[in-house]
Amino acid sequence: MKVLVTGGLGVNGAWVTRKLIERGHAPVVFENRPDLSLVGDLGDGFELVRGDINDLACLVRTFQEHEVRRVIHMAALMPSGAQDDPLNGFRVNAFGTVQVLEAARIAGVERVVFTSSRAAYGEIPPGEFGHPNYRPVGEDHPLNPSLVYDVCKVASEGMGMNYQRNYGLQFVSLRFATIFGPGKLARHGKVSIHSRMLEDSMAGKPVRITKGGEQHDDIIYVDDVAEGIVLATLHERPKYSAYNIANGHGYALEDFADAVRKIVPDADIEIGPGLDFFDMGVNYYAVFDTTRAREDLGFEPRFSLEEGVRDYASTMRRLGL
Ligand SMILES: NC(=O)c1ccc[n+]([C@@H]2O[C@H](COP(=O)([O-])OP(=O)(O)OC[C@H]3O[C@@H](n4cnc5c(N)ncnc54)[C@H](O)[C@@H]3O)[C@@H](O)[C@H]2O)c1
Repeated sequence: MKVLVTGGLGVNGAWVTRKLIERGHAPVVFENRPDLSLVGDLGDGFELVRGDINDLACLVRTFQEHEVRRVIHMAALMPSGAQDDPLNGFRVNAFGTVQVLEAARIAGVERVVFTSSRAAYGEIPPGEFGHPNYRPVGEDHPLNPSLVYDVCKVASEGMGMNYQRNYGLQFVSLRFATIFGPGKLARHGKVSIHSRMLEDSMAGKPVRITKGGEQHDDIIYVDDVAEGIVLATLHERPKYSAYNIANGHGYALEDFADAVRKIVPDADIEIGPGLDFFDMGVNYYAVFDTTRAREDLGFEPRFSLEEGVRDYASTMRRLGL
């Protein structure tokens, strides 16, 4: 079965591309940025098509030429990029999704798996679901998007479900917790705090985070995320249109710092008190209920924080990053 991955050279996309190859698929990667640094070890295991998700004709042609059956749509601008230029943010993150859906419809693609985010839930204020109670957030939780990025995730999900209802295209949206993994420093701005903690420590630099030591948040290693994406893509017929892909546990930054110290014993990390370590002006912090993904997709996170950090560091060395 031919699978195409938009954004398949990115932080998460590279892992998805790798996992598909490991499972015997030769995926097509659709990207507008030919940076192979995260897939340097994959050789000719995948085919790279250079194109933009807002080029409908190019998408249709690519889907048809490669007889694509399932699409994993990951291409997007990160929150700060989308917020700095809202028009372009919406063009890529929302309109771009509709172009992918429309191309899939025209080319007779069977399923689009959309990489959404916790950002679709948007603001989760302190109290029942936020600090200090962190009752797990399920997929039926109200969507309350705040930043441009969040609005685009909700709009994309809505359009995906519309295509499913009206045009018979299967649509699955995966809402990820905060992800950590190699490559996040390049484009991810404030949400790359975990990468900074590890990569600065590996480089012998001190890490000073002014606030947020009491905040808990659900975080997950990129390999586990990719596994969830691949499971939803290869599944015969997922029952739901939206799944949380998360660890299902709340971690403090100090827990992550401890995992870093196991790998870099002389890491010099200090975290200030209080809440909101991302300092984005929106309370995204939460813990997610992953019952649906576990029961329906067979999703089970494999990496503890320490194992994730260890794999992250060894991947950096292996890829020469
Ligand atoms: N990293 C996280 O913590 C996180 C959390 C939740 C959801 N997500 C979602 O996962 C997906 C992948 O995120 P990531 O962290 O790998 O980001 P990334 O920036 O590393 O990867 C996105 C890729 O999309 C490509 N791209 C961007 N615009 C494009 C366009 N117009 N046409 C073709 N390709 C284009 C980029 O070149 C990049 O390689 C995104 O949809 C993101 O919103 C990420």
